[in-house]
Amino acid sequence: MRTNQPKTIYLSEYRVPAYLVDSVDLTFELFEEGARVHSVLSVRRNPDSDAGPAPLELDGDSLKLESLALDGKTLDEGAFEDLGDRLVIPGVPETFELTVVTWIEPQNNTRLEGLYKSSGMFCTQCEAEGFRCITYFPDRPDVMSRFRTRIEAEKSAYPVLLSNGNDVDRGDLADGRHFVTWEDPFPKPCYLFALVAGDLVEKRDSFTTCSGREIDLRMYVEPRNAEKCDHAMDSLKRSMRWDEDVYGREYDLDIFMIVAVDDFNMGAMENKGLNIFNSSCVLASQETATDMAFQRIEAIVAHEYFHNWSGNRVTCRDWFQLSLKEGFTVFRDASFSADTGSPTVKRIEDVTLLRTAQFAEDAGPMSHPVRPSSYMEISNFYTLTIYEKGAEVVRMIHSLLGPDMFRKGSDLYFERHDGQAVTTDDFVRAMEDASGRDLSQFRLWYEQAGTPVLDVSDEFDASAGIYRLTIRQSIPDTPGQSNKQPQHIPFAMGLLGAQGQALPLRLRSGDTDAPLERVLELTDAEHTFEFHGLDERPVPSLLRHFSAPVRVSYPWTREQLQFLMSHDPDGFNRWDAGQRLAVDVIQGLVGNPDEDAIDSRLVDAYRQLISDSSLDQALVAKMLQLPSEAYLIELSEAADAPAIHAARERVLKRLATALRDELVACYNRNHQSGPYRVTPEQIAGRSLRNTALSWLLLINDDEGRELASQQFRAADNMTDRMGALRALVNSDYEADRERVLSEFYERFRHDPQVVEQWFSVQAASGQAGRLPQIRALLEHEAFDWKNPNKVRSVIGAFAGQNLAEFHKPDGSGYEFLAEQVCRLDDSNPQIAARLVTPLTRWRKFAPSYGEQMKAGLEKVRDKAGLSRDVYEVVHKSLA
Ligand code: ARG
Ligand code: ZN
Repeated sequence: MRTNQPKTIYLSEYRVPAYLVDSVDLTFELFEEGARVHSVLSVRRNPDSDAGPAPLELDGDSLKLESLALDGKTLDEGAFEDLGDRLVIPGVPETFELTVVTWIEPQNNTRLEGLYKSSGMFCTQCEAEGFRCITYFPDRPDVMSRFRTRIEAEKSAYPVLLSNGNDVDRGDLADGRHFVTWEDPFPKPCYLFALVAGDLVEKRDSFTTCSGREIDLRMYVEPRNAEKCDHAMDSLKRSMRWDEDVYGREYDLDIFMIVAVDDFNMGAMENKGLNIFNSSCVLASQETATDMAFQRIEAIVAHEYFHNWSGNRVTCRDWFQLSLKEGFTVFRDASFSADTGSPTVKRIEDVTLLRTAQFAEDAGPMSHPVRPSSYMEISNFYTLTIYEKGAEVVRMIHSLLGPDMFRKGSDLYFERHDGQAVTTDDFVRAMEDASGRDLSQFRLWYEQAGTPVLDVSDEFDASAGIYRLTIRQSIPDTPGQSNKQPQHIPFAMGLLGAQGQALPLRLRSGDTDAPLERVLELTDAEHTFEFHGLDERPVPSLLRHFSAPVRVSYPWTREQLQFLMSHDPDGFNRWDAGQRLAVDVIQGLVGNPDEDAIDSRLVDAYRQLISDSSLDQALVAKMLQLPSEAYLIELSEAADAPAIHAARERVLKRLATALRDELVACYNRNHQSGPYRVTPEQIAGRSLRNTALSWLLLINDDEGRELASQQFRAADNMTDRMGALRALVNSDYEADRERVLSEFYERFRHDPQVVEQWFSVQAASGQAGRLPQIRALLEHEAFDWKNPNKVRSVIGAFAGQNLAEFHKPDGSGYEFLAEQVCRLDDSNPQIAARLVTPLTRWRKFAPSYGEQMKAGLEKVRDKAGLSRDVYEVVHKSLA
């Protein structure tokens, strides 16, 4: 709770820690009324610090200090200062032992930072600054210590007691209590500390590493989830093998544990040897999880596992370096997913997220570089920029160096910095040192915020047979940054001839073995490239596989886009051409409510996609998804969300009407027999089938309605059941909608992960998610304000996906969101600060919307006792 302005933390003020903590000995006494934490720290002055005999400073948050002793002697009140968020102890010797006893109340911890209770179990979340909610400690990642943790609790309620490392001792205590002691041999920052206590079932497996060590793999879940572990366990084993094969990284402890908890602010956490997951990001069965969920789980399990090297063995010096571990690890998990499934589809999904949400962030009030230089609340910087753009930056290094040099670079990085807390600059230097490449200009990707814009123009000199491509780059101003320098951009491209053939890219005339694809390196504000030996004007295929996180503008004609959709050898660019064509058609209808016809090129292109089963069906399934409303808004200025929604809807309906018979045929053709598998082929089949269904229902097709009802009843997997449910919920068939929603709920009411999907299908629907219905969902028996997943699945889905309702011209959607953010700010500031995001984009919208969004933000700003988290987001958005 605070009323005054939170402090801004600057990278430029970084100082090495004055004291180091070599080891930490923790004892947790867990009770229903609270927990007592005994902590014994071996402290020594840091030889690398020039602070001299400075006072020792320890961070603390919401702690009750019971006692403090230095080398066994109790410090009384006059011997230290309690500044609220810090303890300051002057006059400490060079080395000493500090004993701290605190009392905390996990059962009342609704922020879900530090130690808290979730469905009867104790668990922790310490990244970024949650450890200070457990005990007083130098809570910064460059203080690395060896942890020993003893947990004591009542045995019947908490038979399972877990922490990092190896269990070295256990036994019974008086009064039905017991203890387990854990020891982690690897020094680590306290943000990687974890503790779990609960009544959990254990699923075991094992993995033999490349050097022949046998690793004990254990998953801990609530008994009702025992059958939902197989997919995560399998993903884990494949991740472990992949990291050995591709990065030469072997697991280091003897045990690797995963725990599922229902109440969790984020997706998952890579605590050393004891990863803790949001249940929705780890538990799956065919009946309860969609294909998308299966893929997300695989990616997150891999992500957290990969952190063991990129994050834990080599960690961040300070939180400005967050992308050091997150960007790199997202790049690693994306490469893993690409190797596992369809690489083109994976790329399309990642780029969709980046272009829709990260570009919006980069153009908004919270825009920040991949390595920020200041923040108020670090939790607000677990962003798409740090994660996804950070991964793109690593991907660009990979494409500039090539896979072999990149591997040499990562080997050097891990070897050079093992056991250290380092910076993004150290990462880039390892890449430079291993490859001999100069990445000094490339470093601007870490320092400059904003999405570079590439303006591409071309001309064809028919008499000389030369095609000239001119590329100008500019980087928009962002808060606190203007007049930016050009960045180093790898720009992959190709040229196509009139028959669709790939043309050799001769940068000199007479070049005999010119490649069909090149990665041009842009370093200046403007470049012109000449391609020789061409007898006709080619069609350019630009920024293939999205080789850099930039916006490309080029005056494509619709003919060229249709041509690229079917001829570009790069699957990603085929998809991209389709998106551009669809965007162009939809934009032409926005604000044009009487225009009913759509370009026949789009209809023809889609007809071909739906009908030609010789095409890569996984790619086709993606190509059939029209650009989302959120993306269309991102591309516009003075956006009118309801008008965009209406235009997109009209295009969908026109397409569905024109292609009605092809859709039915596509539906029938993709009927699956045989057992459910999560393979790219099967996923594509289900996706095509469910797309066909949803289009048919949009035009009130009676056969479609019959197929949907049948599929809803007969489905043997959640993808199909959910596909049918979603199609019916979004249709005009009101009675069917009510019927399937209640049948679905009755069937799955005992499964929180499914109930969350049930909430979001409604909240995201223009039909079932009108404001009164949303308010009713908040009153539903299954809704729980303390559970972030429930909050996200109703309020987040409404404001993030149900855009026509959220942006109702009367402003009721904005008022609603402001009200819920204020309510959540008191219990869970991290979640409140995320939920407010849609309002922060007010400048993007036409003034009649923007002004009301701004008013919503002001209402939040004026709430009493605003958290630091929400304060930062709201004030920066209004500035
Ligand atoms: N390190 C975790 C991951 O990306 C995320 C932790 C997020 N914590 C937070 N307070 N925002 O795997
Ligand atoms: Zn991560």
